[in-house]
Amino acid sequence: MDEFKIVASASYVPPTVITNDQLAQIMDTSDEWITTRTGIKERRVSLKANTSGLCVQVAKELLKKSKIKAEEVDLIIVATMSPDSNTPATAAIVQGEIEAKNAFAFDISAACSGFVYGLKVAANFLKDEQIKNVLLIGGEVLSKLVDWIDRKTAVLFGDGAAGVLLTSANTQQSYLLSSDIKTFGASHDKLTAGCDQVSPSFPPTGPQRPTAFGMDGREVYNFATRQVPKSLVRACEQAGLTPDQVDLFLLHQANARIIQSVAKKMKLPLEKFPTNIAKYGNTSAASIPLLLAELSEQGVLERGQIIAFSGFGGGLTLGTVIIKY
Ligand code: ACO
Repeated sequence: MDEFKIVASASYVPPTVITNDQLAQIMDTSDEWITTRTGIKERRVSLKANTSGLCVQVAKELLKKSKIKAEEVDLIIVATMSPDSNTPATAAIVQGEIEAKNAFAFDISAACSGFVYGLKVAANFLKDEQIKNVLLIGGEVLSKLVDWIDRKTAVLFGDGAAGVLLTSANTQQSYLLSSDIKTFGASHDKLTAGCDQVSPSFPPTGPQRPTAFGMDGREVYNFATRQVPKSLVRACEQAGLTPDQVDLFLLHQANARIIQSVAKKMKLPLEKFPTNIAKYGNTSAASIPLLLAELSEQGVLERGQIIAFSGFGGGLTLGTVIIKY
């Protein structure tokens, strides 16, 4: 059991809302298809800010809420699959923008499991006595990677950022109880984005842009519905808990049907699996903290609750972390 306190959570989503009906005007789809297959009704699209811009808003809000000065932050981690650039890291841009001059900063690339991987990484760093305060933010501008002609993927994704301020403060109340983190790299080709197959030809023969989302939707669906329940059970066993002792399961918001299937396989009431996918779509690394921040705002979270976070996505990656909040 590691000391590990979520001091504050915060989120920022860009103001532009794109509804299913708006998508149906530019591609062969319908609100009915998208709603019944995914649970998504609308998503946000960032027309101005890049990923770092969304993350900076979250970082500032986290500092305000937790009453911690930027100089007191020791580490900034941004989980993202849509960074501003390959280098610098998006986390470095955030560090500069908020003037967290004593913090080191780096990104985690684990797609939709990025926030959960980040919790595990942050928990390990917090064992180091030099590190007291960590900003962990999941941020995505996935619209950069969307091919608006491909209806199979374009309807799924949205933009947003959210995160937490974590501290190692010895409160004797909040703990990271267990974790189960895995990568299934043999299935790396089931979900891809932003990757050119090989170096472009020389001299270049045409316009070059990173490739958009490529996804074997059925495979990813099967992966999630098979592996997430197993991961939750392993993490519960490791924590010495039965699944019904967990108060809330905050799952990556990829598809409402995946969440329903996991709840059913776990034989647990769906009320323990809150969702907000209808409003934001799949925001990859941002989706779990976005849900956490919203539930915190709504007063649903209480100190002492047992919360399981579970992410799954490109890699293929999978991760569950259970905490005492
Ligand atoms: N509108 C209307 N029709 C569509 C659309 C659309 N947007 N997209 C596909 N269809 C059609 C297909 O062409 C197909 O038609 P056909 O039978 O004539 O060929 C039909 O609908 C069924 O398509 P399927 O792909 O079989 O639909 P499925 O029920 O599997 O749902 C979905 C697709 C929603 C993508 C589902 O497979 C899924 O949710 N998979 C998991 C995806 C996921 O979680 N991805 C994110 C992972 S997280 C990360 O790391 C980014």
